[in-house]
Amino acid sequence: MEGVGVSSALPTAQFWRGKKVLLTGHTGFKGSWAALWLRELGAEVTGFALPPAADQPLFHVAGVDRTIRSLFGDLRDLGAVRQAVDIVKPEIVLHLAAQALVRRSLADPVETFASNVMGTVHLLEATRGVPGLKGVLAVTSDKVYANEEKGLAFVEDDKLGGKDPYSASKAAAEIVVYSYARSYFDRAGIRLATARGGNVIGGGDHSQDRLVPDIVRAVRGGKPLELRHPEATRPWQHVLDCLNGYLIYAEALISSCDLPRALNFGPDPAHPLPVSAVADAIFQALGQNPAWVHKPVPGSIEMKALAVNSQEARRILNWRDRLAGTPSLIWTAQWYAAEAAGQDMHAFTLNQISRFSTL
Ligand SMILES: NC(=O)c1ccc[n+]([C@@H]2O[C@H](COP(=O)([O-])OP(=O)(O)OC[C@H]3O[C@@H](n4cnc5c(N)ncnc54)[C@H](O)[C@@H]3O)[C@@H](O)[C@H]2O)c1
Repeated sequence: MEGVGVSSALPTAQFWRGKKVLLTGHTGFKGSWAALWLRELGAEVTGFALPPAADQPLFHVAGVDRTIRSLFGDLRDLGAVRQAVDIVKPEIVLHLAAQALVRRSLADPVETFASNVMGTVHLLEATRGVPGLKGVLAVTSDKVYANEEKGLAFVEDDKLGGKDPYSASKAAAEIVVYSYARSYFDRAGIRLATARGGNVIGGGDHSQDRLVPDIVRAVRGGKPLELRHPEATRPWQHVLDCLNGYLIYAEALISSCDLPRALNFGPDPAHPLPVSAVADAIFQALGQNPAWVHKPVPGSIEMKALAVNSQEARRILNWRDRLAGTPSLIWTAQWYAAEAAGQDMHAFTLNQISRFSTL
């Protein structure tokens, strides 16, 4: 498949201005950034998600609450999803909402499968047949692949799998999306695809059991950081690089017929970064001496190595990770430092979005 003629590796206001977008998961980490970016591009954005969790204050801190229209509801409730779709009558759906934490999925697999699998079914069921709908991009994960820990970077055609409930639920969501595409959306001319992003870092994430928020909590609480797997490697990327991939993919999907149904978005797998190196760099960028201890979890099934190959996104969409490596860590640390200094984080977040577009 050849490039689709997308001349810029950035989303364009020309495309997004005035588009009615339903964004699920807008009260979470990526969704908050996506909401602000889409508004900057001139889209008419409505968010659908659970109310912001106590440990995920970005929605308020970054002023998403006063920037877009919010509908609070549960994806597990088909009636609530139908109602939201009916209110918005979207042209584009960006599906980011999910129970997104591996350790929480181990503690509550039923919630995870219900939100991530049946939630996706409900969204697709409610949107199929919506007049004017042009495309749906469902965000899954780099964790959708059957990972035998062979040290290979996954390509989009690799086998799906998942040892833990989160990964399995995202792999299952891939199959749900595929079946809805083949059964309903293709014949209606509505583009439906999945985006598989890497481990995202960036300002404003305060979730439990994620590396950067754990560091920020340790620094602010004056406690040493506990690392479960300091040697593990992940496809770390800045939230703006990941979202840039989603937005240009959605834009290209709707503008062209000849695109794959799934794309990976992650950093170059040739330079894998272990958890400990990322932790050290974030500590330093925050002006702190690295202070972490190894606390192994007996019997853990968390993957030791994970990498995705994003050649297809690079080739077809001209996507590139503009903040690859050290800049992604510095931009992340700068965000938390600004928050700690009491800066206006709505303005700061918008400023990072605008600077990203100039890189
Ligand atoms: N953060 C990462 O490193 C990463 C990596 C790969 C993929 N992803 C995927 O990206 C998406 C966004 O992740 P995030 O980091 O912003 O997660 P997050 O936990 O910060 O936000 C999740 C969002 O989903 C909403 N949600 C959860 N369950 C819901 C339900 N039943 N009904 C309605 N809304 C519900 C929450 O309210 C919130 O708005 C998810 O699909 C996640 O699986 C994240």
